Amino acid sequence: MFNSEVYANRRRTLLEQMASRGAHGLAVFLGNVDAATNYRGNDYKFRQDSNFLYYWGIDEPWFAAVLDLDSAQECLYGNDVDIDDIIWMGPQPSVASKGELVGCPATAPLAEFDKAVAVAVSAGRPVHFLPPARYYNQMKLSQLTGISADAVRKVAPVAAGGASEELVKSVVAMRLIKEQCEIEELDKAAEIGYWMHTEARRGCKPGVLEQEIVGRMEGITYSQGWGPSFTTILSQNGETLHNHSHHQIITPGRLLVVDAGAESNTHYASDFTRTYPCSGKFTTKQREIYDIVQQANDYAYSLTKPGTTYWDVHYATARFLLEGLKGLDLVRGDVDEMLPLGISGLFMPHGLGHNMGMDVHDMEDLGENYVGYAEDQKRHPLLGLGNLRMARCLEPGHVVTDEPGIYFIPALIEQWKREGTDKGFVNYEKLVDYYDFGGIRLEDDVLVTEDGARRLGPYRLPIRSSEIEEVMANE
Ligand code: GLY
Repeated sequence: MFNSEVYANRRRTLLEQMASRGAHGLAVFLGNVDAATNYRGNDYKFRQDSNFLYYWGIDEPWFAAVLDLDSAQECLYGNDVDIDDIIWMGPQPSVASKGELVGCPATAPLAEFDKAVAVAVSAGRPVHFLPPARYYNQMKLSQLTGISADAVRKVAPVAAGGASEELVKSVVAMRLIKEQCEIEELDKAAEIGYWMHTEARRGCKPGVLEQEIVGRMEGITYSQGWGPSFTTILSQNGETLHNHSHHQIITPGRLLVVDAGAESNTHYASDFTRTYPCSGKFTTKQREIYDIVQQANDYAYSLTKPGTTYWDVHYATARFLLEGLKGLDLVRGDVDEMLPLGISGLFMPHGLGHNMGMDVHDMEDLGENYVGYAEDQKRHPLLGLGNLRMARCLEPGHVVTDEPGIYFIPALIEQWKREGTDKGFVNYEKLVDYYDFGGIRLEDDVLVTEDGARRLGPYRLPIRSSEIEEVMANE
């Protein structure tokens, strides 16, 4: 938890943000509640709602809060423990003392929250809330406001009923720019991620089960932080972008994609990807593709600075990848002609990167376009170019991932061939030789600074093909 002023300041700024959008009424915030695995009493590990954490700081279930946009009054709602709780959980600080820790001395029992919302609804005051990520909160908001369960997840101006666009835009404007205390936490998460990936690289030896590597690397995140920041992607079938099966044995000659990150104890994320040759050395064919991706990663980083849109960085990187693929005769023709036709999407059907913060895809619960696109930006319609999650003009304090990749997805290649999607630019005859190649992705986490950018964390994971071979030979 940060000091109480951090949370009090954020709420003050939120009031200003909402006022600038002409908003009145109540802004209400629901924390997350315990979620059962198969029965109550055996719950999933608790993870607080990130928006609740950001404004109200309490990292415990069964809390809610209200900010009155007209009077600036605020109240934190939660229940003090009873003797039954003390028997199972031990003594706990009072809700009033927790309120003091986050700069909100006004507290009340949770049932009062329902009453406060009911009073506002019956008085016809606007009730602003964020689209809930969890089912319980979706139902709760629907019950409290009388808005249908589907509509509470749809973002629209508050007058239309549903999740509040005014609140979404205000929260996005604030959370996109990381404060110094957040940057320190992101650096910590990046350091844990570094050690997590180091463990993975050391474990990448022929004969080892992929699952064993996952277990060891995730162990680092639990021993140094909160745990993984998302479900670890580790597979020799790296052409599947989010491959969560870890059942294969590490086999010489294959490539291992490791895309994983850690969450700090304060819930800030890291997200790195490296790709390793399972035998410790790249084949010529692997190295040719690897070096294109590695240079694309550096190239994208060199373009990342305030005043440039991340869309432009994404587009320039797609061009860079196509130039490399042309050099290998996998695509043919004028790169500037094929680029707007989305030919890069066959090889990189995802975006260059996304926002990162308290969530690994920061704030995507609020809507990917609200977070990643300014009002004057539209998503590109084509695969790959249109999969960019963060297109905005970069500002100091933005945190983005830089994660170019090249993948050979036989089913996608076959579909393009059948449907002529490539407009004659793809050399399918040569591409057949890559059907068992897999994929390569290389990802770093980047903070936009006043005069450019810096990679998060105290160390950069080895990335050049020669460095990778050298460290693997010595491990
Ligand atoms: N690195 C995993 C993801 O971006 O979804």
